[in-house]
Amino acid sequence: MDIESIQKEVEERINKIDSLITLEQLRIKYLGRKGLIAQLTSSIPTLPEEERRSFGQKVNALKNKISTLIEEKQKSLTSISTAVYSSVDISLPGIKYDLGSFHPLTQITEEILEVFLRLGFSVVEGPEIETEENNFTGLNIPLEHPSRDVFDTFYLDVEISKNQAPIAENRAASSEQRLLLRSHTSPVQIRVMKTRKPPLAVVVPGRVYRPDAVDASHSFMFHQIEGFMVDKEIKFSHLKGVLEVFAKSIFGKEIKMRFRPHFFPFTEPSAEVDISCIICKAKGCSVCSYKGWLEILGSGMIHPSVFKHVGYDPKKYTGFAFGMGVERIAMLKYGINDIRLFFENDLRFLKQF
Ligand code: PHE
Repeated sequence: MDIESIQKEVEERINKIDSLITLEQLRIKYLGRKGLIAQLTSSIPTLPEEERRSFGQKVNALKNKISTLIEEKQKSLTSISTAVYSSVDISLPGIKYDLGSFHPLTQITEEILEVFLRLGFSVVEGPEIETEENNFTGLNIPLEHPSRDVFDTFYLDVEISKNQAPIAENRAASSEQRLLLRSHTSPVQIRVMKTRKPPLAVVVPGRVYRPDAVDASHSFMFHQIEGFMVDKEIKFSHLKGVLEVFAKSIFGKEIKMRFRPHFFPFTEPSAEVDISCIICKAKGCSVCSYKGWLEILGSGMIHPSVFKHVGYDPKKYTGFAFGMGVERIAMLKYGINDIRLFFENDLRFLKQF
């Protein structure tokens, strides 16, 4: 075996190596327990006496040479990988992902429902596509009422054929089978009363639709929370008590409430409910139009015609109902002056909640 050509071969190989792993493999091949140097050393006793000494010295020199070459290569490879590391600034902050949160309308809806749940109400939801019967007729809203106009309600082009009603409880219903996007959550009163018997205490959150031109206080889609209670001997005082707990829980104990006579076809008597202006403490400011009061919802005692429509005996049962706009409550509570902010998905707005 030609020691010099081995050394040359090792030098060439080491030169080409570019990783610590291949360098280690080379070390094993030459310097390992069964490596080339070990083989050469173990062949010494087989040589003629006079050659052994000088051959042994050469092998030893080769072994030292290879060790030094490997050591040097190791150093240069390590310094290269340090150089790669130092070009990455590990002290730079990483990419931080923001945690999501609930939309302000979801938050206020849950806060409001929570109050009614504590009072023993249960939550029911209804569909956003309704029949004319549930949205209007069942609620004692006459055919000539302006809210039934195509300018005030979104009617859908589809009609239900007489013997195939998509909504089970309407199967026996009248010939008015035009579908629409519900303009309030009150049709859920009809749905619940048609399928359950009193006593009832129900709150209904959900989207409603009206073809209004969009501006700072109008949106073609917004949210309402409906509430109603039906049993023997439910009185207007129950309505007052429940709404007072609601208003004080949401707007604070110090606010005052007033009931203003109003008209809704599905309640009698009817009242709009105002709270004392939370901005100016009823002194008068631009938010309350210098009246000191803010309208927050509509309410009243459920009309006997509504009970008759769902098959309840109006002599036996009485009840109250109310409906509020969720956006309006949120705007008053948080001092938001434009309803469009809720729907634009601008994180600068949403992150404040
Ligand atoms: N549905 C009425 C509206 O949208 C609100 C209301 C509900 C009034 C229940 C009285 C009773 O304006």
